[in-house]
Amino acid sequence: MTKDWIRQRKHDPYYRKARVEGYRSRAAYKLKEINGRLHLIRKGSRVLDIGACPGGWSQVANETVGSGGKVVAVDLSPMGSLEGVEFIQGDIEDPLVQEKVLKHCIEYDVVISDASPRLSGNRTLDRGRSLALSWVVLTIAARVLRKGGSVLIKTFQGSEVEELIEEFGGKYNSVDRIKPRSSLKRSNEIYIAFRGLKDDRQIDSGALQLP
Ligand SMILES: C[S@@+](CC[C@H](N)C(=O)[O-])C[C@H]1O[C@@H](n2cnc3c(N)ncnc32)[C@H](O)[C@@H]1O
Repeated sequence: MTKDWIRQRKHDPYYRKARVEGYRSRAAYKLKEINGRLHLIRKGSRVLDIGACPGGWSQVANETVGSGGKVVAVDLSPMGSLEGVEFIQGDIEDPLVQEKVLKHCIEYDVVISDASPRLSGNRTLDRGRSLALSWVVLTIAARVLRKGGSVLIKTFQGSEVEELIEEFGGKYNSVDRIKPRSSLKRSNEIYIAFRGLKDDRQIDSGALQLP
């Protein structure tokens, strides 16, 4: 954490709003905005949140689904408990963690993922890591979701977005690219929502077949 970063954060309205309103991250407002526009998560939805720590998105998802819904969160790091949210700690790229998730989350309505790999500063390496992570999340989503379900992922602007849409877009009825207002202008992150899974996927919980 540099002094600059701490100063910028202090003046960030979304950071301050999150503290006042009790959200664990400013990222909570990104999901609120996206969900306000696309209605991916609804009352009663079953939601898988990949890369959930510290838990802002899980809080928003949990509030939205209410007592009739379900939220399962996964992260590499430990996450402070949230009432109503089940947490699995582990690397979503690890086959054992994938197996756990696939066994646990059957016929889910929505997969959300704000996961981003730790950046090394090497653009080629970082791009490769980010693409691999998005690929894993989208492959899991196609196994976890019910027909008609949706997935929201974070990725980075550039050819990566088009590669992901080309590979996975055809499985869904629609694809939207979103840059929420609360996403920092200097960040080249972008969110992609794939809505309405077309095919019934296999419901077995065997190893993940990456393309
Ligand atoms: C930007 S944070 C998510 C913030 C969260 N949406 C919120 O609102 O609090 C990204 C998270 O992705 C997690 N992550 C990155 N790679 C992962 C992986 N392979 N498996 C599980 N979690 C991962 C990181 O540990 C980090 O906590």
